[in-house]
Amino acid sequence: MEKEISQAVISRLPRYFRYLEELRLSGVERISSQELSKLMKVTASQIRQDFNNFGGFGQQGYGYNVEFLYQEIAKILGLDRKHNFIIIGAGNLGRALGNYLNFERRGFLFKGMFDQNPDLIGTTVRGTTVMPMEELEDFIRNNDIEIAVLTIPKTGAVSVADRLASCNIRGIWNFAHVDLNLPGTIQVENVHLSDSLMKLSYNLTE
Ligand code: NAI
Repeated sequence: MEKEISQAVISRLPRYFRYLEELRLSGVERISSQELSKLMKVTASQIRQDFNNFGGFGQQGYGYNVEFLYQEIAKILGLDRKHNFIIIGAGNLGRALGNYLNFERRGFLFKGMFDQNPDLIGTTVRGTTVMPMEELEDFIRNNDIEIAVLTIPKTGAVSVADRLASCNIRGIWNFAHVDLNLPGTIQVENVHLSDSLMKLSYNLTE
């Protein structure tokens, strides 16, 4: 039976991935857990514990092979394959995300954008034309769309999410400030930028 990896470990993987990407780009071939620990300001034992969830990735004393570790973490995070995504809500946030090129580099391909505002239909974001909501289901089915990014107000988010569920979307990156109750087969990742800001505020207040 496969061991269940805790969400805490998974939430740390992207940071390891980013550091390894940097190391790899600067030509570093090997790194010990102590060196990685110093660089990332987490304990070496935390790093070893995290990596032990996946079999350890490297020989003790010899350090980790950066390229191997990078590729393995990419595989665990599903970054070794392409993910087609659409954005629903072509406002400020939706457009900003659509214009962000780095997602592509990580294998997230921006395939389409939708909005209910007739004034926005037909406008483009980085070469992608904003489509009307009536075309949502067909587009998802015909274009192998795996992820929908929700950048609409919370009022419409629940019913749009239900429509996404009915055409078997696999994941929702939810920026709308509402919790979505969807079948467990659909992965939802909620993002609230203001949570991070409130954390900063707390630390300023302390
Ligand atoms: P905006 O008003 O510029 O854009 C919203 C767009 O969604 C509009 O183009 C509107 O026509 C469209 N829309 C509204 N209801 C829709 C529906 N049912 N179906 C399809 N399209 C619909 O707003 P902005 O600044 O882009 O923010 C979008 C939402 O994201 C807001 O509700 C805001 O509260 C939220 N937000 C969340 C953040 C987070 O960290 N989670 C950060 C910033 C904004």
